[in-house]
Amino acid sequence: MYSLIRKILFLFDAELIHEFSVKLIKLLSKLPFSKYILRYFFLVNNQSLERNLFGLKFKNPVGLAAGFDKNAECYNEFSNFGFGFIEIGTVTPLPQPGNPKKRVFRLIEDKSLINRLGFNNKGLEVIKKNLRKKRDVIIGANIGKNVFTENKDGYKDYLECLDGLHDSVDYFAINISSPNHKKSKTVP
Ligand SMILES: Cc1cc2nc3c(=O)[nH]c(=O)nc-3n(C[C@H](O)[C@H](O)[C@H](O)COP(=O)(O)O)c2cc1C
Repeated sequence: MYSLIRKILFLFDAELIHEFSVKLIKLLSKLPFSKYILRYFFLVNNQSLERNLFGLKFKNPVGLAAGFDKNAECYNEFSNFGFGFIEIGTVTPLPQPGNPKKRVFRLIEDKSLINRLGFNNKGLEVIKKNLRKKRDVIIGANIGKNVFTENKDGYKDYLECLDGLHDSVDYFAINISSPNHKKSKTVP
């Protein structure tokens, strides 16, 4: 079953499937009792998995990495899958479209994937609003600088994100890597 589903999904572009999966998970989570069914199968309550770090109590050490729920649109839906924390983002102060497509590539033989999405996200204001929903999972915000912000002013973008989100999340991850940003000429 797993390999059949995988084969079907692999017929389509990786980024398209990413977007499709997010929409599907949101849709499935609207079905009656889906929350309880998912939690029944995926949630593991075991004290030995708990971790106390940075003054936070994680139910388990396995989290959803940044890049899946970039715009904080479905952290509650994902929390039903038993994650100990969910990292949203990367968030930048202003929205940006990311690099031109195609920008996600499957390396099937290596069972891996290359992405150079370039921090596509809806920006701080939208994401802040999306974080207003009640939740019972630890949420981290992965923050970055806009591609069109000069490096010398980059720290201002990080400060803006820290300031804008510090009441809405439990921890921050500062993303200073992104070697795959392509300078965009258009400022949104
Ligand atoms: C499609 C995709 C998008 C990602 N987007 C981001 C991102 O926006 N910000 C970020 O810090 N990491 C991003 N990552 C990196 C992941 O957060 C994670 O570090 C990476 O997939 C390695 O995870 P692993 O160590 O569990 O294999 C992305 C990864 C993938 C596959």
